[in-house]
Amino acid sequence: MKAGSFITIILFIVTLSSCYYDNEEDLYPQQAECDTTNVNYNDQIAPIMQNNCNSCHSGVSPNAGVITDNYEDLKAVAENGQLWGAVNHEPGYTPMPRNQPKLPECDLKKIRIWIDNGTPRN
Ligand code: HEC
Repeated sequence: MKAGSFITIILFIVTLSSCYYDNEEDLYPQQAECDTTNVNYNDQIAPIMQNNCNSCHSGVSPNAGVITDNYEDLKAVAENGQLWGAVNHEPGYTPMPRNQPKLPECDLKKIRIWIDNGTPRN
């Protein structure tokens, strides 16, 4: 009886860890699907800001005076280094989005490419 419970526990652990590895494998196709062709403000960057940043960085009193909900203001924050510093959690910047995990790798990649390409609008 005791040996039976022991085997059940081992099987349970093995099952759990195989689930874990399955999930990990599932992540790779997602990363491969990251489409970074023609990264521009209207199609990729604006939606990322809309979903993660604009709630705190728009309107009459945006946090830290940083405005992320329009092209001109975001371009300014991109060019002075604050945008990348904050989203990539660089030393000396307050990590963004505030009190939340880092943005998905694909979003970060797009933001980096957008900045490197000179913040194209579309
Ligand atoms: C829940 C509200 C909230 C969200 C969501 C949020 N921010 Fe912030 N952000 C803040 C606050 C508050 C500060 C000021 C922090 C401080 O000065 O300590 C700030 C500061 C910043 C700064 C200045 C950082 C620095 O150290 O110079 C940038 C740039 C910034 N946010 C960009 C973003 C971006 C981009 C996103 C989305 C990925 C985002 N924020 C999401 C609240 C938020």
